[in-house]
Amino acid sequence: MTRQLAGKRALITGASRGLGRAICRVFAEEGARVAFTYSRDVEGAATTVSEIESAGAEARPYAVSVLDPAATESMLKHLETAWDGLDILVNNAGISQNLPLALLEEEDWDRVMDLNAKGSFLTARAVLRRMIRKKAGAVLNIGSLAGVRMLEAPVHYSASKAAVRGLTQGLAKEVARHGIRVNCLAPGLLEDGVGKNLPPYRLAEYLRHCALGRLGTLDEVARFAAFLVSDANSYMSGETILMDGGL
Ligand SMILES: NC(=O)c1ccc[n+]([C@@H]2O[C@H](COP(=O)([O-])OP(=O)(O)OC[C@H]3O[C@@H](n4cnc5c(N)ncnc54)[C@H](OP(=O)(O)O)[C@@H]3O)[C@@H](O)[C@H]2O)c1
Repeated sequence: MTRQLAGKRALITGASRGLGRAICRVFAEEGARVAFTYSRDVEGAATTVSEIESAGAEARPYAVSVLDPAATESMLKHLETAWDGLDILVNNAGISQNLPLALLEEEDWDRVMDLNAKGSFLTARAVLRRMIRKKAGAVLNIGSLAGVRMLEAPVHYSASKAAVRGLTQGLAKEVARHGIRVNCLAPGLLEDGVGKNLPPYRLAEYLRHCALGRLGTLDEVARFAAFLVSDANSYMSGETILMDGGL
């Protein structure tokens, strides 16, 4: 059977655990070569490498923060030499912080907005400069239900994910003429990752309203991400797709 991403070269940000790692593994299973970034977790990154390699694909880990344009640039130069460029970017790196508005400091707002919104912009800008020259590519930004629907979530996180949705639309319109598609996948609450330490009442509320009555799995989201960046998804751009079990 033909694999969805056979021959593709992908970069996934923030993949030393959680959804990023699941996306790396699934992309590898679907035939892609997989480069990924992380900021600190060297051991987690080694596990991601072994999952990619176990799927029979080439792995390239980079300890590069999405907020470091110089390091991002040298990683991309390195990937140009090694792979002659990239076909796919997934802006996945993201953080949250479970704090009510009254306890949010200005620095908290800046940290979450910077990483989630500015980090996606900086990485997309660097990668798209190259994709535009090649006139091909697919970008997937990982948003969140919290950036689309009114639900109880930290306000800086909701604002940053709404920004990712706007970034998706602006980029999609601008780069469509170069044959590049940009979409946003916005998951609801998943079994692992940023939502893990939610207060029990918020988890219960989510499950009460979720039609499927359970959290999403990392694997479910990663498999849909593979379809979204594949050539089979050729007529979708600027879209934010909710994957939340029906809320
Ligand atoms: N899990 C959910 O329920 C859920 C729901 C909706 C949306 N999302 C979104 O899905 C994405 C992944 O979330 P997750 O739940 O998998 O989070 P996670 O388990 O906390 O993983 C976050 C990843 O981002 C990396 N990272 C942090 N700062 C970075 C930086 N400056 N540069 C590069 N990488 C960095 C971390 O690596 P280091 O540890 O090395 O720093 C880690 O690999 C996020 O955008 C999140 O908002 C998640």
